[in-house]
Amino acid sequence: MKHSGILYDSHQRFHNYLRISLIEKCNLRCTYCMPSAGIQLSPKESLMTSEEVYEIAKVFVHHGVNKIRLTGGEPLLRKDFGEILERLSTLKVSLALTTNGILLDRYLDDLKRAGLRKLNFSLDTLNPESFNTITLRDQFERVHTNLQIVLNEGFDVKINAVLLKGQNEEEIIDFIALTEREPLSIRFIEFMPFQGNAWDQSKTVSLASILERIEGHYGRDRVERLQDAPNDTAKNFKISGFKGSFAVISTVTNPFCDSCNRIRLTANGRLRNCLFSDKEQDLLGALRSGEPIEPVIQKVLQLKKAVRAGLDSPETFEDYHNHQSNRSMIKIGG
Ligand code: GTP
Ligand code: 5AD
Ligand code: SF4
Repeated sequence: MKHSGILYDSHQRFHNYLRISLIEKCNLRCTYCMPSAGIQLSPKESLMTSEEVYEIAKVFVHHGVNKIRLTGGEPLLRKDFGEILERLSTLKVSLALTTNGILLDRYLDDLKRAGLRKLNFSLDTLNPESFNTITLRDQFERVHTNLQIVLNEGFDVKINAVLLKGQNEEEIIDFIALTEREPLSIRFIEFMPFQGNAWDQSKTVSLASILERIEGHYGRDRVERLQDAPNDTAKNFKISGFKGSFAVISTVTNPFCDSCNRIRLTANGRLRNCLFSDKEQDLLGALRSGEPIEPVIQKVLQLKKAVRAGLDSPETFEDYHNHQSNRSMIKIGG
């Protein structure tokens, strides 16, 4: 498709993947995402309405975005989620959703009608007690049931598991065992630093140690490296003979910024060029004042740094002070 140049950044990366956060609230309290002190929610009037989400998305699609992921907080908590989905489904774009799965059973028909088949399911443990410890909510059964439902319904499912040292790293092999019979991808995510999540490097389980554990269990020759999709956040593998696959998202130890094609819109309409950048711009403000939003998009992309918002060395990235002015993850949406 022919598109205009505003979605290029100054490192010649084309941004065809828009992630839209629909809400700041969540029905879980995962310690790595939601600050223990809670967050200051944006006033309701400053959140994008379903109409505004659509109007903004339309502009991005016009300029070349061909994939939109809906995130949160927990996006299914939006009362008008069905309406938002219906509007977005009229655009020529591939739709995807990242969810914790608690409310998924209510939306199956909406998802099917909108042609949304790609579901990324946040689930960090297969053990009900650990689920309560990590999420601070007793919802394991619902999540587990809904995971089974979407697998039976044939959705394209990826499980996102943030690995935390000493908490769930012992479950790596149990997760991979799921892929023996199920055609899903389980993605192990290195714990990343954001405001209020008490990150330190020693809590992150690294790509190298994840692979070491898996190779130790299955034997090196059964671990196949797969071809990654272009712009993939994950390094993909499978165990020979298994139906599904596994992957590692290694932002901390092995960033993948050179192929970054993602731009983020927060629930209160700010545009961000990187997970780690605090230099966001008020896109919704421009829309509400009747101004064109293209200059805002262009500005945000021109400001984009080559790697992790300029935190390109391990030393700068691992200094937790450098993450204090960024948002907490719950208000970015992953
Ligand atoms: P796919 O579209 O299926 O590849 O999903 P995704 O990885 O883009 O999105 P998802 O919402 O499932 O996020 C999974 C993990 O990857 C989360 O921890 C995100 O924070 C992280 N992630 C997603 N996009 C980016 C990105 O642009 N940069 C970095 N560093 N991490 C990202
Ligand atoms: N580090 C890594 N991944 C995180 N997520 C939330 N917080 C963090 C963090 N600190 C993941 C969630 C969800 C995705 C959108 O982001 O588990 O799957
Ligand atoms: Fe893109 Fe920033 Fe993620 Fe790197 S850290 S891949 S630049 S969003």
